[in-house]
Amino acid sequence: MRTALALLLAAAAAFANAPCDIIDPSLCVFPFPNDYFRPVGPSGVALTNYSNITWPLDADGKIFDVSNGWNGVNGFSPAQAAITYLPNASLSGTPNLPRLWNMETSLLATSVTALINAETGERVAHWVEADHSSDEWDAADPSKNKRAFMAWPAARLNGSTRYVFAVGPVAALGGGFVQPSPAFRAMRAGASFPGIEPERQAHFEKDIFPLAEAAGLSRGSLTIAWDFTTASDATWTHNMLSMRDQALALVGDNAAYSITSKTPTPRPGVAMEVDGFITVPWFLSSISPDIGTHIVIGSDGKPELQGYNDVPFKLIIPTSVANGSKPATAQYYGHGLFGSASELTNQYLDTEADENGWVMIGVNWIGLCSEDIISDAYMVANDLSLFGFIQARLHQAQTNALLAHRMLFTSLAADPILAVNGQPVLSKASPRRYYGNSLGGIMGSVFMSLSTDTTHGVLGVPGGPFGILLPRSKDFAALFDIIRLRYDNSLARISMMSAIQEQFTYLEPGGYVNHLWKDPLPNTPQHSVLIHYGQGDAQVNWVAAEWLGRSIGGMRAFDGTMRVRNCTLFGFEFVDNSAKLNGTDGGLMQGYYFDVPAENIPLENLPCASATDTHGKTRRTAHAMEQTRVFFEQDVIYNPCGGACHEQP
Ligand SMILES: *[C@@H]1O[C@H](CO)[C@@H](O)[C@H](O)[C@H]1NC(C)=O
Ligand SMILES: *[C@@H]1O[C@H](CO)[C@@H](O)[C@H](O)[C@H]1NC(C)=O
Ligand SMILES: *[C@@H]1O[C@H](CO)[C@@H](O)[C@H](O)[C@H]1NC(C)=O
Ligand SMILES: *[C@@H]1O[C@H](CO)[C@@H](O)[C@H](O)[C@H]1NC(C)=O
Ligand SMILES: *[C@@H]1O[C@H](CO)[C@@H](O)[C@H](O)[C@H]1NC(C)=O
Ligand SMILES: *[C@@H]1O[C@H](CO)[C@@H](O)[C@H](O)[C@H]1NC(C)=O
Ligand SMILES: *[C@@H]1O[C@H](CO)[C@@H](O)[C@H](O)[C@H]1NC(C)=O
Repeated sequence: MRTALALLLAAAAAFANAPCDIIDPSLCVFPFPNDYFRPVGPSGVALTNYSNITWPLDADGKIFDVSNGWNGVNGFSPAQAAITYLPNASLSGTPNLPRLWNMETSLLATSVTALINAETGERVAHWVEADHSSDEWDAADPSKNKRAFMAWPAARLNGSTRYVFAVGPVAALGGGFVQPSPAFRAMRAGASFPGIEPERQAHFEKDIFPLAEAAGLSRGSLTIAWDFTTASDATWTHNMLSMRDQALALVGDNAAYSITSKTPTPRPGVAMEVDGFITVPWFLSSISPDIGTHIVIGSDGKPELQGYNDVPFKLIIPTSVANGSKPATAQYYGHGLFGSASELTNQYLDTEADENGWVMIGVNWIGLCSEDIISDAYMVANDLSLFGFIQARLHQAQTNALLAHRMLFTSLAADPILAVNGQPVLSKASPRRYYGNSLGGIMGSVFMSLSTDTTHGVLGVPGGPFGILLPRSKDFAALFDIIRLRYDNSLARISMMSAIQEQFTYLEPGGYVNHLWKDPLPNTPQHSVLIHYGQGDAQVNWVAAEWLGRSIGGMRAFDGTMRVRNCTLFGFEFVDNSAKLNGTDGGLMQGYYFDVPAENIPLENLPCASATDTHGKTRRTAHAMEQTRVFFEQDVIYNPCGGACHEQP
């Protein structure tokens, strides 16, 4: 008995903090992200250190096993919402709360919330939303229908930076104000509270309360405040960069390939459709989409070559190139969610490629392509902590895509299928571009941060991060239904979105797009992209497209660009509708407006209505095609619509 107690006490002493942060008692992991979960270890370095009860248990009592890659990270995702639960909060009843439609008010001294860069003391733009993603399911049982209070940074945060998030007085639904938790109320008053260690109180006294006060939120008015530190930028990119550089060094201009089928004139505008395999260096523990697949790390700490693997590619040669009437462009095409490179065979794309001389190649985005559907769904249904195999496969997918693009104007360019009158149509001197839609736009933003072969890309209907996207996408509804079966309340479900966002960041826009234009990765050029997004898109939401654009930095927008539901288009540099911009000087956001009624475009984190989904329409508008053509051919960005791009619904 005595020994057991001694052991218990010893265990408690060894745990720097209790497993849960009691300043928000609603859920162990709230508030999140939170330096409470990132203690300074014996070596003096602060690393994430969650326990197996940090995230909620599922309906069967299964833990979210944090040893599957969640611990030991030097900080949190810079593309994460600050999330907490404020019981009965009335967002609409709280004046001066920065919302999606006026997020710039978060920079004013009057803002009820302050996201503060602790190094500079500056307020950081953000918007606050209540989680509505469970509304439909929990409508009948309001006790389950708790809406988390979420603050999204308007754009990707800086790496290796501490931020304080402070919330002033928030109106409560029944009148009055939301009350702070007992623990936070005591800390605010400087009083001791069971479970709040003196070191933690001292940290708040020194590093949190003064920053909130300086930002205009008096200590006594705070409902909650906490801090978190973002991981270093290299945390997210280092494995991918190593795989890119190793793959280019191993294969580079000499990729081996085989051609398995050639179909002459399959459709109007297409001279030849080709299927084949490209041989790629493989860095994963498995070839198939097995749960548990990981990047194999060698003794030097870098991804280690496991051998070579043949992955399928699709190639389209347009008629205009084959008959010698158009010079060829070497173009990579990125496909959509759970699709495959076969998406290249699309009538609008046939026509566009033929008109522009695009020779297009594509491979599958393994991790999120057709062959992954079963594994991905199985993981969601059984153990979200095993999420890491998706991002591992996406690393290999980017490697494969970069190599396939390179092959198109090097080794494959020497093949007779790409010769006209004995002359190769493509060479290293050819123009090279990236174009992708949907997941091809999302992963395209990563491709365009990594590519050493192209500087110009068009990201059709993209968005990021996934944490903003998923609850706002009808494509995620089936997987979210599975999560609902496993987690019976709304706070637990949305906390799972925060969890997977931490790992998604290793291979999604949030981990990369700051490097696309403003801070290029090592040995990588600066890139510019056109972002095309559509009003009413039920699959990849405009909110996430705008987040992506803001995060790239230096993005321009024409004065006439539509404002979705009168939301301000914050964070872009506005230019006159008649401007002819130099495409090398940065990218541009272009919205397309389809007369989707306002009631079909929620401002909450819900998908736009399926009935009026415009996801497939943007890419097919004459304006989007024309803007793409001029950008790709002339390095000029102009407004093809004069003012707002108002399209046929
Ligand atoms: C991390 O958590 C474990 C318990 O899961 C604990 O033993 C250890 O002391 C913690 N490390 C730090 C640095 O707090
Ligand atoms: C979490 O649980 C797993 C499986 O039971 C175990 O192997 C692991 O050590 C636990 N991790 C922590 C941090 O407690
Ligand atoms: C929230 O509101 C409900 C209904 O008005 C009330 O019963 C409950 O006590 C309130 N909870 C808190 C924490 O204020
Ligand atoms: C990031 O760092 C830059 C340079 O120090 C600073 O100007 C900017 O405000 C910071 N942004 C955020 C979101 O913290
Ligand atoms: C070549 O192909 C283009 C595009 O299909 C077509 O417009 C043109 O007439 C063709 N030229 C010749 C000489 O066949
Ligand atoms: C947008 O603002 C205009 C002008 O203030 C107004 O007429 C219009 O109804 C608003 N539209 C929506 C969807 O709120
Ligand atoms: C755009 O600017 C770059 C230098 O930043 C220059 O090399 C290029 O020629 C310009 N393009 C056009 C179309 O003027």
